[in-house]
Amino acid sequence: MDIIGGTLITGRGPLDADLAIADGRISDIRPRTTHDAKATDGTVDATGLWVLPGAVDAHTHFGMPLGQGISSLGWRDSSQAALLGGTTTIIDFANPEPGQSLTEAVDQWQARADADVLCDYGLHVTVTDTSADRLAEIPALVARGLPTFKGFLAYKDRLMLTPTQMSALMTTVQTCGGMVLVHAEDGLLNEAAEQVLLNTGRTGPRWHPLAHPAESEIQAVTQVLDLALAADCPLTIVHISLAESLKKLCEARNNRPRSGQTTPLYGEVCLHHLWADARTYEAGHEAALAAVLSPPLRTEADTRFLADGLAAGDLDLLSTDHCEFPLKLKAQLSAGGFPCIPNGAGGVGERLVISYSQSVATGLMSRERWVQACCERPAEIMGLDGRKGRLEVGYDADIVLFDPEPDYRWHPLGQSDPSVSLWAGLPCQGQVKYVWLRGQPVVQNGRLVSPEPGGQFLPRHLKRTP
Ligand code: URP
Ligand code: ZN
Ligand code: ZN
Repeated sequence: MDIIGGTLITGRGPLDADLAIADGRISDIRPRTTHDAKATDGTVDATGLWVLPGAVDAHTHFGMPLGQGISSLGWRDSSQAALLGGTTTIIDFANPEPGQSLTEAVDQWQARADADVLCDYGLHVTVTDTSADRLAEIPALVARGLPTFKGFLAYKDRLMLTPTQMSALMTTVQTCGGMVLVHAEDGLLNEAAEQVLLNTGRTGPRWHPLAHPAESEIQAVTQVLDLALAADCPLTIVHISLAESLKKLCEARNNRPRSGQTTPLYGEVCLHHLWADARTYEAGHEAALAAVLSPPLRTEADTRFLADGLAAGDLDLLSTDHCEFPLKLKAQLSAGGFPCIPNGAGGVGERLVISYSQSVATGLMSRERWVQACCERPAEIMGLDGRKGRLEVGYDADIVLFDPEPDYRWHPLGQSDPSVSLWAGLPCQGQVKYVWLRGQPVVQNGRLVSPEPGGQFLPRHLKRTP
């Protein structure tokens, strides 16, 4: 099959070219020398459209359990929203239960995903227990294609690692050629702030952000950079939400050459920390419920600084931390106070269009940088280079046809709940029209071709690039 007449958008610039697909891969890219390519049988006419690589979201929680059989929207509905929004690959998290082995958790999460997922996926592994038995599992997991491990400095008595435990995790992961992803908030500072709020009767969702003070993230970011450099362990700081955190990351990177170190230090930003802000907590009970996520939404000034940082390439990845819970569920559980509200928001369906509308169409970010942040860099950094994230011969034929023209108001895709969306009704520009996954059509004219699962697990292998 050929896709002709479109403009390929790559990290190195646009290219008027026709693209051929064979056996699920990109088999040829022919720069167009004339303007009269004609659609025939077996060709798709992409005239007037942009051809993008299938987008890669390196941070989702498609089926996050929450006790009592409750979980976020689930693998099927979330992966449908992903495809409709032009994301063909996601990397989710296997979260072990207390006392459970990492390997068993991975097996369970993989089985759940395989039963329901429509897009391709990889798994990071969350580590909350750094006993010798758990750390001993890490080499085999890296060899199996799970080279990335998330540790938390937040959530005391549940997920939090002490600095000593984080350091032990980093040493083991570094030895095996993996990378650590860190949720950088200080669990002790958050706990103290939360106690003050609860003791003074401030229990509604609007108080949630005050239980996550800026100082808590800044301290944790500072600490985790020191720990990663000391262990020479590749690090991604996930969901960076503050200008000051990004400054610390840039500072650490810039100081590396002086100290002769090459430790890779990456920064991830999520959609909601760029194009939603703390005013949402003051916009009524339901708006505040929707915005209960961690780290919380921050000031407008922070969002602007981070959006500039993404455009400049200081932030490497644009992810979503997609973790959607229906508003009804958040409202029900809020009866116990804001700490009982499940944290998270959707975003996997919105990422390409909202980032295009807010940053590319407004001239803040180049198209090249947009494709780097949404497609190329997540694949490269997370070990999918050679297969995902690029329009290049030999890569999987994960392809999006994007129409940059339409102006409309955003409506969440698939089964996503509009009442809990941070962007429902927002004026936006650009639409995902057609999507192929490994050469198979999965979205046509903005609609899913089939609701049936067809996604594959992706083993990942990291290359060390500072
Ligand atoms: O609020 C959020 N981000 N929920 C998902 C879990 C996490 O910490 O990434
Ligand atoms: Zn996190
Ligand atoms: Zn997350």
